[in-house]
Amino acid sequence: MNKKCIAIIIILLALVLGGAYKFLIQGSVTDGKDGRTVILLDAGERLYILGEMRALLGHMQELITAISDDDMDTVIKISETLVEDSGGKTPTRIIAKMPIAFKQISINIHSDFKQLLAESTEKRDSKLALKQVSKIMQNCLACHATHSLMPKQ
Ligand code: HEC
Repeated sequence: MNKKCIAIIIILLALVLGGAYKFLIQGSVTDGKDGRTVILLDAGERLYILGEMRALLGHMQELITAISDDDMDTVIKISETLVEDSGGKTPTRIIAKMPIAFKQISINIHSDFKQLLAESTEKRDSKLALKQVSKIMQNCLACHATHSLMPKQ
């Protein structure tokens, strides 16, 4: 292999690795004035995520109502919806803009939803379900404390 070939391979490799780094780790971000990481999205993408967020808040409220009514059938139904909705429905072009820390918390909350579903189905214990809702909400707090969304100018 001549030197030119090797140089081209190195450049291509660097481009691929750079792309993977941007896609998987860095995302589309800037530093926020309040110390949080600002994720830069298109206006429509930001509205999509905020809509998902409001749905999450609604589901948390429904969970707490069902738990306080000791209605484990409804807890199971809502957890099924949460597992499904958080299981990779977000369009890839938006995921690519999220930094690794955001992706990590998203994976955590998804597995907490799965745990709520599994244990609610198995044990039907509303006190345990309430404890799990509290654990789930620690993900909400962790992500809001460290990330915000802004439309890209
Ligand atoms: C992986 C990150 C992440 C997780 C987990 C997360 N959020 Fe969010 N959420 C955000 C970001 C980022 C914003 C935008 C905040 C900003 O721009 O200041 C937001 C905004 C919101 C909003 C405002 C919506 C609007 O219309 O302005 C609500 C409500 C909300 N989240 C609820 C929740 C609830 C409830 C949970 C947990 C069950 C949750 N979020 C989990 C990242 C997350």
